[in-house]
Amino acid sequence: MKRRDLLQALACAPALAAPPGAAASAVTAATAPRTLGAAPATLAAAGQAALPVWAYEGAVPGPVLRLRRGEVLDLTLHNQLPDATTIHWHGIRLPNAMDGVPGLTQAPVAPGGRFHYRFALPDAGTYWYHPHLGTPEQVERGLAGALIVEDDAPPPVDLDLVWLLDDWRLDAQGRLAENFYNFHDVAHAGRLGQRLTVNGRTDLVQALQTGQRVRLRLINAANARIFALSLEGLSAWLIARDGMPAATAVPWEGELLLGPGMRTDFIVDATRAGRFELRDSFGRGQRSLAAFEVRGQDEPARAPPQPAAHAPLPEPALADALVHRLVIGGGAMSREGWPQESAAEREARRQRQLAGAREAAPAWTLNGRAHLSHEREHAAHAAEFRVPQGRSVHLNFENNTAWWHPMHLHGHHFRVLSRNGTPLAERPWRDTVLLAPRDRVEVAFVADNPGWWLIHCHVLEHHAGGMGTVFEVQG
Ligand code: C2O
Ligand code: CU
Repeated sequence: MKRRDLLQALACAPALAAPPGAAASAVTAATAPRTLGAAPATLAAAGQAALPVWAYEGAVPGPVLRLRRGEVLDLTLHNQLPDATTIHWHGIRLPNAMDGVPGLTQAPVAPGGRFHYRFALPDAGTYWYHPHLGTPEQVERGLAGALIVEDDAPPPVDLDLVWLLDDWRLDAQGRLAENFYNFHDVAHAGRLGQRLTVNGRTDLVQALQTGQRVRLRLINAANARIFALSLEGLSAWLIARDGMPAATAVPWEGELLLGPGMRTDFIVDATRAGRFELRDSFGRGQRSLAAFEVRGQDEPARAPPQPAAHAPLPEPALADALVHRLVIGGGAMSREGWPQESAAEREARRQRQLAGAREAAPAWTLNGRAHLSHEREHAAHAAEFRVPQGRSVHLNFENNTAWWHPMHLHGHHFRVLSRNGTPLAERPWRDTVLLAPRDRVEVAFVADNPGWWLIHCHVLEHHAGGMGTVFEVQG
């Protein structure tokens, strides 16, 4: 057995059955086990009313988990929330049993319950964790945090910053508006909030000295908001997307689109003194999200950084790939692709709603079907496709809707081959790709990770409204 296989086998097999801590001894690289509590908390912000939230370890965002590539993340979720939950480790190529999808890869963790997550971290980069149960509500209430996997030889920097971007919809009293799953959000752009925060704050200012070089890791943890990000006045380069290093550093000029679930890492050089704002200009107008305050004498511009070399992912073999088309339909402003719901299904849904169930009405389809459940029995007969382990998959996304969709794949990274027929020179590796209305995007990956995996829109209300499906990699 290769070392990594061994780690995966250990990480996968005992974790479901054994009590926390029972299986750890055989893996020397394991970091100390710890507990991550999820519980109601209060987010206090200067000049604002305290906001009741749900939080990991009492913090919004949750603690930054920092490990090194090859290490084992070993952590027990302790659910102190009033609802069941799970954790999904967004972007990590991990064993299926650790993926956090309730009903598909694990049982929901009931209030008061615990779940032991334990897996090796194969890739360096910027990742994040969030619940995968009742996500439109649980993520909006504040459950999200960064998982940073450090490389052995990262580009040298003076500071490594993690900025988690979010938005919050507040009601007239300044509390979180509790209209999760409302049908207008589900069928339109998702739940957008009027308060924009970076690391839970509306007033984040990072002090810098001229001459400093900073790694800036941006994570979009909003339910639905797409950011169009710019940082004028300082030189900056994009060095990674969704954790994976870029082939070469790309100068950050103009606006960079970051959809929900997506990450980008930048290197920023503080070459001159002043105040420099991270701005969002998606939709109408411009808003400042956070700022750098730089002091000191001007410094000469520095040479662009070298993105870290990483263990290359397996290269998809397009010639004999399984080709699969995924047509996205439905949503407001289109007549086609709406889900067909029988009168009986509609009535059953109405009854569940009357009984207090929190769920969305179907508004979206993938290849003509809305998937409101990812339970294993449902997936077993409704799987989008099945593929033997090791085979390449060539996926063609076709967005036939009037809306944007960040499409996310679990357990794998893919290369983005083309957009609207135009090949992309770099074919970047991503785990989430943003489709504009009517976009056609081709991606490819090697299906090397056995199990049941999701493909879904990371606008959480769209996913709840049917825009998610399952494929099986047969090991
Ligand atoms: Cu970040 Cu399936 O999710
Ligand atoms: Cu969507």
